[in-house]
Amino acid sequence: MIKIAVLVSGSGSNLQALIDANLSGKIVGVISNKPEAYALKRAKQAGIATAIIEHKKYPNRESFDAVMHQQLLDWDIDLVILAGFMRILSASFVQSWQGKMVNIHPSLLPNYKGMHTHQRVLNTGDVLHGCTVHYVTTELDAGQALTQGVLKVGLHDTEETLSNRIHVLEHLIYPQAIEWICNGTIQHLDNGDVHYKGQKLDKPIQFCQF
Ligand code: GAR
Repeated sequence: MIKIAVLVSGSGSNLQALIDANLSGKIVGVISNKPEAYALKRAKQAGIATAIIEHKKYPNRESFDAVMHQQLLDWDIDLVILAGFMRILSASFVQSWQGKMVNIHPSLLPNYKGMHTHQRVLNTGDVLHGCTVHYVTTELDAGQALTQGVLKVGLHDTEETLSNRIHVLEHLIYPQAIEWICNGTIQHLDNGDVHYKGQKLDKPIQFCQF
């Protein structure tokens, strides 16, 4: 069975969706860089081991990442899931977990990498918005996309309503993508290619909410 660690910084609603999904992999640990993260309570309630590794206590990114890396090794982790983990990871950490680390991002990548995605979508006047599950590579928000949830931006949407609507989509697509990794439907090959049901995946599988 695939052993999973989830990295969080905040509320952890995506962590909760993963816990509730009864994945065929096992979430063995949750790491937070923030001691006050509500996600830690969710993990404890589910009987999952937690580790608080505060980035502020380390002199640089590399030393913070090295402690996380050791914790993942101690838990014997196969798959690292970033779920609202709001730290940029060092190149060496990312390379150590290449092909074994995924993230969810609140936009239709490659559009709107980085922060404040909902407001930027509203400013541009886009009709469509969404979220993307992707493998993590050293370039920010640029690894191979696996799945996307797509919604139509409403005339009365605000940053807050979009955030809420995107969260609903995230809670559907993240557990699905993770289950596909756990049961071998999605495979990351040594040459970097990603296969879905044995075929090379060229573009993400989209779930549209309209
Ligand atoms: C999610 O919307 C996720 O897409 C976003 O943080 C939120 C975490 O919510 N991640 C990023 O912006 C990463 N660049 P949660 O703590 O309730 O799961």
